[in-house]
Amino acid sequence: MVSPLKADLAGPRIDKGLDDIYVKESSICFVDGQRGRLLYRGYDIRDLAAHSTFEETAFLLLQGHLPNREEFEKWKSDLAASRTLPPSVLRLLRSMPEHAPPMDVLRTAVSYLYNFDPERDDTTRAANLRKAQRLVALFATIVATYQRIRKGQRVLRPDPRLGHADDFLRMMTGKKPDGVRARMIDVALILYADHAMNASTFAATVAASTLSDLYSTINAAISTLKGPLHGGAIEAALNAIETIGRPEAAEDFVLNTLRNKERVFGFGHRVYKTYDPRALILKEFAQRLGEMNGDDTYYRIATEIEDTVVRELSAKHIYPNVDFYSGLVFHGLGIPTDLFTPVFAVARIAGWTAQVIEYWEDNRLLRPLDWYVGPKDLVYTPIDERP
Ligand code: SDX
Repeated sequence: MVSPLKADLAGPRIDKGLDDIYVKESSICFVDGQRGRLLYRGYDIRDLAAHSTFEETAFLLLQGHLPNREEFEKWKSDLAASRTLPPSVLRLLRSMPEHAPPMDVLRTAVSYLYNFDPERDDTTRAANLRKAQRLVALFATIVATYQRIRKGQRVLRPDPRLGHADDFLRMMTGKKPDGVRARMIDVALILYADHAMNASTFAATVAASTLSDLYSTINAAISTLKGPLHGGAIEAALNAIETIGRPEAAEDFVLNTLRNKERVFGFGHRVYKTYDPRALILKEFAQRLGEMNGDDTYYRIATEIEDTVVRELSAKHIYPNVDFYSGLVFHGLGIPTDLFTPVFAVARIAGWTAQVIEYWEDNRLLRPLDWYVGPKDLVYTPIDERP
């Protein structure tokens, strides 16, 4: 880093997007952008998608190893026992204005939830890991419960006999998902659980670096994830598919978007310069769900979009990212579009908390510089003497 004292008159190199800046060493998540590989604690995401569950993956991210049978049974029962919302938080969800965006509801609920955490002021690693577990459990309940409330439907209590992902979908839709759909939401949560130093994790890390509390770091992350360049892209991508309406119209839509110098949501990535490995798995699920639901129109539109974008932009290494096919999967599972980004958060709470707790092991206040280019030494003039 060039110190302002040594920078020459042209000024230092400004790395606006912090593209190539490393802020910490980590053992949690490895993203190989050139080869399209993703590892959580050394395990390939494809193996975890094939053999693990979101509960087991959350344990892996937070505890650093795969659980043995005893650890896993305790972890699952503790998660299930933590799924019930404090009554005051339920009342808060009922008091939210009807038009409140679900990401704002989630952020508000998490802020309020802090007051009911018995260990909120305990900053030890052990307490933070227990807080993280409670947040993993409750994110799903908050999102599912708010959906029921805003639809005027009866709120369903958590069912501790069900796994995390199954019960999340049941609490939201009122129906226990069949085996295939339950597995799909479980794998989707695994795929979204962490992704190294993405924007929302970085926001959480900045908050953590000031030694703020865990809930506050998560609020910073939720606020950041909402943006359409990040988690909000899932909703924008599905909205585009719905706007296009039929496969024959997809190519023109993409060409017009590019001609207008606009972005095709669900494509491109700061790190992946090839296919996002998560998108490949979600694409298969989207195709299967289209067949199972007897209507693959959206899937056919999506593949036409993909073919056009890759043909037009592969020279710029633009390929589908995790947010392109995930919207089709969530739509196929009966999740409303404006809940897609909250579902992303239901998974990413595991990674956010793991990354923040890891940062606290070797904390340093994050305080970058900006290179001042404004005027200096101006003379203050009384207001009546100003033009
Ligand atoms: C997520 O960081 C993570 O890990 C995030 C995430 C996670 O798991 O946490 O993977 C989840 O957020 C995925 C990304 C979701 N966002 C979108 O789908 C929004 C659309 N994508 C783009 O806005 C863009 O690709 C970004 C923001 C994701 C990354 O952009 P960069 O690295 O800042 O790249 P850039 O804006 O400098 O673009 C480089 C070139 C530009 O063209 P030129 O000006 O050089 O001619 O590629 C073009 C861009 O115009 N480009 C696109 C494009 N993405 C890049 N053109 C059209 N459509 C796109 N989607």
